Amino acid sequence: MKLLIRPVCVDDAAAWRGMRKALWPGDGDQHAEDIRRFFAGERLEPAEVLMAFDETGHAVGIAELSIRAIVDSCAPGRVGYLEGWYVSATARRKGIGRALVQAAEDWARAQGCAEFASDTELDNSGSIAAHKALGFEETGRVVQFRKSLL
Ligand SMILES: CC(C)(COP(=O)(O)OP(=O)(O)OC[C@H]1O[C@@H](n2cnc3c(N)ncnc32)[C@H](O)[C@@H]1OP(=O)(O)O)[C@@H](O)C(=O)NCCC(=O)NCCS
Repeated sequence: MKLLIRPVCVDDAAAWRGMRKALWPGDGDQHAEDIRRFFAGERLEPAEVLMAFDETGHAVGIAELSIRAIVDSCAPGRVGYLEGWYVSATARRKGIGRALVQAAEDWARAQGCAEFASDTELDNSGSIAAHKALGFEETGRVVQFRKSLL
């Protein structure tokens, strides 16, 4: 498949929002606000968003990227981080996810990062398998906690 991968621009906002809603359905209306802030210049998390387009120009995937200072099992400093990774259900298993990660790694290298990291849910076996297929090594599994202090 002939693919184009490029950073998102304002015209991609609706497609980006749709993919975010599919990837993180619990986040309600937060996506619109996050996208608005990104295009207003707030480039922290994510610092960059790459979008993949098929040969018809249809958006088929995204990689949301950041640079983290501290990542478990990585040297402190600038670590490229795959904050979000999504390919439309009908476009999966065709190499689009791989192409997005390769472009993401190129971006991180250009930002001065020597390592690239990611995470996924414990029960997301497809994502875990895809990460491993792309050369990520598993460095740990966590259970997170919170409590209110009010
Ligand atoms: C994870 C995801 C982005 C992968 O995208 P994709 O376009 O299907 O990935 P690719 O086709 O490029 O596959 C990359 C590699 O991972 C492997 N892979 C992909 N999905 C897999 C699965 N469900 N089970 C096993 N291996 C898988 C592929 O075989 C390929 O390896 P290979 O080149 O050695 O054959 C996609 O499945 C997705 O959007 N899933 C839902 C959202 C999600 O879980 N995102 C990740 C958490 S943030």
